[in-house]
Amino acid sequence: MASQNLEEAFFKENDTPHGLVKRILYKKYLQAYFPKTQYEKVSYNYKTIIIDGFSGAGRYGNEWPNEIEKYGSPLIAVMVALGFCRKKRIQVNRKRNAGDAAENVSIDTNVVWGSDPSTKNPENELLEELKVKNIRTGIADPNCDIHMYFVEKNRNNIIKLKCNMELIIIRFLKRYYPSHKYGYAEEGSRTMFVIDTEPFSICIEIKRSEFSSFDPPSDLSHRNTRSLTFLDPFGYTHTPMERVQLFASAKGNEVLINFRSSYVNRFVSRNPGGVIKLFGMDDLEKVARLYGIERPDLEKNDDLVEFVKSVIRSCEPEDRSRFKNNICKIARNYERFLRSKIECKFLQSFEVVDEGNTTLYHLIHTTNHPKGLEAMKESMNRCSQTEGEMQMSDYQVLRKGHVLNFGNKDKHEQVATVIYEQFAGRKDVHIDKISAFVRDNTPYVYRKKPLRILQKDGRITRVRGRNGELQTKNYNFSDTVE
Ligand SMILES: C[S@@+](CC[C@H](N)C(=O)[O-])C[C@H]1O[C@@H](n2cnc3c(N)ncnc32)[C@H](O)[C@@H]1O
Repeated sequence: MASQNLEEAFFKENDTPHGLVKRILYKKYLQAYFPKTQYEKVSYNYKTIIIDGFSGAGRYGNEWPNEIEKYGSPLIAVMVALGFCRKKRIQVNRKRNAGDAAENVSIDTNVVWGSDPSTKNPENELLEELKVKNIRTGIADPNCDIHMYFVEKNRNNIIKLKCNMELIIIRFLKRYYPSHKYGYAEEGSRTMFVIDTEPFSICIEIKRSEFSSFDPPSDLSHRNTRSLTFLDPFGYTHTPMERVQLFASAKGNEVLINFRSSYVNRFVSRNPGGVIKLFGMDDLEKVARLYGIERPDLEKNDDLVEFVKSVIRSCEPEDRSRFKNNICKIARNYERFLRSKIECKFLQSFEVVDEGNTTLYHLIHTTNHPKGLEAMKESMNRCSQTEGEMQMSDYQVLRKGHVLNFGNKDKHEQVATVIYEQFAGRKDVHIDKISAFVRDNTPYVYRKKPLRILQKDGRITRVRGRNGELQTKNYNFSDTVE
């Protein structure tokens, strides 16, 4: 697809329910991610790195909405980070002043992000703002606890992104920290903002570059680094596996990829080489053996196309009923390749369906940390429209009239049955085993309610110790239920 068409498609996408859901999912995950990697009481001293490889302009029109999810991904990340640091400080102060009623007047931790819409472009808006009160300073040491990199190749988007970002920073500081200043530096294709006065330690780097020329930061694979790389390209040719590998080479590195599965399905005949790179099929001989097919004749394009198609659409006969179309098979095979190429213990996938009821893309997340998996499942669960499946469908919303609802979608009865089927007849099962089973082997989020249901209808009982005392975290599962 020509890039012009892709851009047009993207701008339409922003206004769709699934465009909103994608941003909500990202926001929700970040709201869990910053606290988990930066919490004040932890003795480990993690550095959190966010990399957005295809940032866009950060804002979609003239509005300055109050809802974070109405902004583009770079502004979402910065708003969540600023809001997190502020909230953390308010909570610490509350604890410190516990008992002192006068000091403990409750301060709202929510941040007001919105302001009046403007008819000016972001550059002029920023000039106006800087004229009123310029709170820029130089940058002494950009070594911060949170470091965010935003990469974008389009010149106009970069100009807008820099201005939008600075306007958000200025307005936030003016509103909540009127004596704070922020560091600013511009150097070649890189612009940097640093907010490092307590309670903040945030560095923001905006880089005009193709993602393919952006090198991972030198500390990305350090032991104390926790990183999330978000890749949200228009198509599939800019995220070859060898690039993804660079950003997920260490245990602390997570990636969230917008995998354009429907484009892969549509354009594989036109660009089989691009799909080979996307999947990282470096050794075609080995891939052929793995999939039990013949190695392609590279001189013959048709042969290559058929080879690539049969790999990416492959599916075990017993799994056929699990996949509703080739697009979902492509996503599953990509996940298989991804797992084999990067440090990844857990992988979660979220299917997005368009208004015509066709699968559009998959959001794929990898992590090595069970808490990362839990938080992503929670975000996907809340953004999902279909209980028990990680899926969101414009068709259901726009054609069938389903109302978007970001609450918990688990049906506790159903989860209870899944747990019971796994452990039936087992004695003395520790709660950690049950929660790990739900987390790692089911599409559900672990909650206590299903256990209460099982207990109420006698399918599980609490274990008693030798002296008859209750062991509250261990359960006996009955053999059968009437
Ligand atoms: C789908 S949009 C990203 C949207 C963004 N995540 C958001 O939430 O608004 C893709 C962006 O990547 C940019 N882009 C396209 N090709 C690129 C490349 N090779 N390297 C970096 N950026 C690229 C486009 O200009 C566009 O702004």
